[in-house]
Amino acid sequence: MGVMHRWWLDAVLYEVYIRSFADSGHDGVGDLTGVSSRLPHLHELGVDGIWITPFYRSPMADHGYDVADHRDVDPLFGDLAAFDALLTEAHRYGLKVLVDLVPNHSSNAHPAFRAALAAGPGSPERDLYIFRDGHGENGQLPPNNWVSVFGGPAWTRVADGQWYLHLFAPEQPDWDWRHPEVRADHEATVRFWLDHGVDGFRIDVTHGLVKNSVLPDNPQPPAGDIAFFRERAEPHSWDQDGVHEIYQRWRTIVEEYSRHDGRARVLVGETWVADPHRLARYVRPDELHLTFAFALLTAPWSAAAWRTAITDDLAATAEVGAPATWVLANHDVVRPASRYGDGATGLRRARAALLTLLALPGPVFLYQGDELGLPQVDVPPDARQDPVWERSGRQSPGRDGARVPLPWSGLRSPYGFSADAATPWLPQPEGFADLTVDAQASDPMSTLVLVRSALALRRALPALGGGPLRWRDDAAPGCLAFDRPAVGRLPDMPDAPDLTCVMSTTDTDVTLAIPGRLVLASNPVGYDGITLTLPPDTTVWLAPR
Ligand code: GLC
Repeated sequence: MGVMHRWWLDAVLYEVYIRSFADSGHDGVGDLTGVSSRLPHLHELGVDGIWITPFYRSPMADHGYDVADHRDVDPLFGDLAAFDALLTEAHRYGLKVLVDLVPNHSSNAHPAFRAALAAGPGSPERDLYIFRDGHGENGQLPPNNWVSVFGGPAWTRVADGQWYLHLFAPEQPDWDWRHPEVRADHEATVRFWLDHGVDGFRIDVTHGLVKNSVLPDNPQPPAGDIAFFRERAEPHSWDQDGVHEIYQRWRTIVEEYSRHDGRARVLVGETWVADPHRLARYVRPDELHLTFAFALLTAPWSAAAWRTAITDDLAATAEVGAPATWVLANHDVVRPASRYGDGATGLRRARAALLTLLALPGPVFLYQGDELGLPQVDVPPDARQDPVWERSGRQSPGRDGARVPLPWSGLRSPYGFSADAATPWLPQPEGFADLTVDAQASDPMSTLVLVRSALALRRALPALGGGPLRWRDDAAPGCLAFDRPAVGRLPDMPDAPDLTCVMSTTDTDVTLAIPGRLVLASNPVGYDGITLTLPPDTTVWLAPR
């Protein structure tokens, strides 16, 4: 068999947050058949594939990230036949399909956790999870000082007095990955979905599976929120060396399938580890293929901060022979159109950011709604669903604002997301009518048209996708500029043009002398082929003349 095509090296993948993408029914919750029905949108958008968030059996305490049966579909989202139909249909469009694996924890409704509760302290059933006796005279204090990512203690006490660990909600007990049955069960899950024909996996919380086995106290938690990168504040809970052998094992399984039929599959990690060198360890040649570069997602709106994040991630991943995997948004973070500023400023920056992202070397993940420039929605308190809201003592609004069902068409809710009479599971705000796919498709200045154009160019221009990036040092202060050389990369296209990407993060016009041709701009710019006038918060793609 020849060399397998590692299709992900220049792919653009699209995150489908299934609850909020498209509802084929009337219950106001998105589902698998809904995704099938909207594949034409993704095809037209020009992405290479999708990652679908968890659709497995779940009581939905964390909206599907609390899995009670990893090898079946929750009736809310459809059934296995609906999944198979979606996969077949997606493949017909040439779209790859990645599913989400949630290996750090199960649901507290998982049969193994129920059995562990029933069997009592000291039983072999309890060993699949992390049960411990408490401290204090009557064991009334938790075994250590760990806190949950969602707020509150990371331990919950059960009726017989023992405590179990949950790095997330109490409904999400952590597996004990030292147990061979836990490993075997997850390997069976990996094989199950590979047997169904998936093209890969996005893996939840890759850096969390193995904990310091002594479970020592973490340093005193800092006041206020610990940000997404937690391994410095909580050195005993995250990024332990023992996680890597799990991914080596999964890599072996995936390679076994790929060798068998010549179809390459991909493993993508959700690894919130700040140090780029520690992060790169997850994508060593015998582990995951990709891991999100969250340093760019968390970087402020500043050309200098972007350059540092991009340089560091490229350098660290290159050391292990992997690409950096770019992402600006997902269902856990504030949408870029609001994160980078309010109103028109935020949207302008989000559009510029997307264009720069799509010019970087390596794979890119888009989050549903980014192609519409959707803002973060201020979901009214009584409609909030994310467990973070209650667990933070109503301090943090949670993540619902990034998860509001997509507006497809029409003038009022549900905007084509569900059947007309249905009420979406999160309320859609006033003003969504201007942002629907239908409304934007016929507006040449819309974000949808911009993203479609960028993706079409990314396919057409040999300089984009994989390949080298060369920083330009002639950019004005507050600007980021780099070249993507095409020459020499494609022997059959020796004259393919290079591409230059310039992004301004300043709030005044910037004038630059760069001879060339305008390929695409996130906003109207002034350009006579030599002198480029970039308005604030704008990205352009230029080709040589
Ligand atoms: C990941 C998911 C997030 C979920 C958490 C616990 O960070 O992206 O949505 O709440 O893991 O599974």
